[in-house]
Amino acid sequence: MSDLLAHAEDIWLAIAPGLPGFTVEILPTVDSTNSELMRRARGGLMEPVLLAADEQTAGRGRMGKGWHSQAGQSLTFSLAMPLAPSDWSGLSLAVGVSLAEALHPEVKLKWPNDLWFQGRKLGGILVETAHMGQGVGAQRLVVAGIGINMARPAAASLPVVESALTPVAPAGLAELAMGQTAGETLECVAPALVRDILMFERMGFTAFAQRFAQRDALAGIPVQLSDGTQGTAQGVDGKGALQVKTDRGVVAVTSSEVSVRPC
Ligand code: BTN
Repeated sequence: MSDLLAHAEDIWLAIAPGLPGFTVEILPTVDSTNSELMRRARGGLMEPVLLAADEQTAGRGRMGKGWHSQAGQSLTFSLAMPLAPSDWSGLSLAVGVSLAEALHPEVKLKWPNDLWFQGRKLGGILVETAHMGQGVGAQRLVVAGIGINMARPAAASLPVVESALTPVAPAGLAELAMGQTAGETLECVAPALVRDILMFERMGFTAFAQRFAQRDALAGIPVQLSDGTQGTAQGVDGKGALQVKTDRGVVAVTSSEVSVRPC
């Protein structure tokens, strides 16, 4: 039995009582857990489901990039839930907050929602939505896809001098939680993630702003946006927009198509 499969029932038991219709599914291989759930949504399946895979053959990242992971080296899963918050702003940041808190006190967030450990990328989040019905207040199916590097990176690829915010090599959860398996990690983060997404539906990003600030890896750091803008990151506003202090004043960065890097 695969490690993920061994934890499926306990995950279901922890989540199902608060989420009617919830199922857990583990696949040995799939192109992408997000793509699979979005295909099902387009086919009309709108039930809450957690889909994890031992291996993805065409994992997807933000901004049209790929997400490459080797079987046994990472945790890859997607959680689909029908949701109807009054304001969707900041949902992907809330997902990041939930994961960072559930993983380890030293896991930070690089806006909008990369999971970082010691300035290196530990994991990524891809949130997509499929429409259910029409009109104001209509529900959407949210598909929150999460990839977490499990393996400790090879010593040779680690920075010799630790530079706090230079993403030299990816981080691995094994650096923080030695011996913890992907299945154990999923069992730890999934129930918290469901609770936090339901909290987001009721309260919006307001409930997460302070929690994000406590994990914000960019706060007070000089940054450069992919459109060339330079400034100093100053946290996020009540809708999750990154505040960057520039020569022209404070710029609010909302577009998920803008990337930010420390400089
Ligand atoms: C990013 O950092 O660009 C986001 C990466 C998200 C990767 C996860 S792995 C599980 C789910 N399925 C995918 O194809 N992507 C997400």
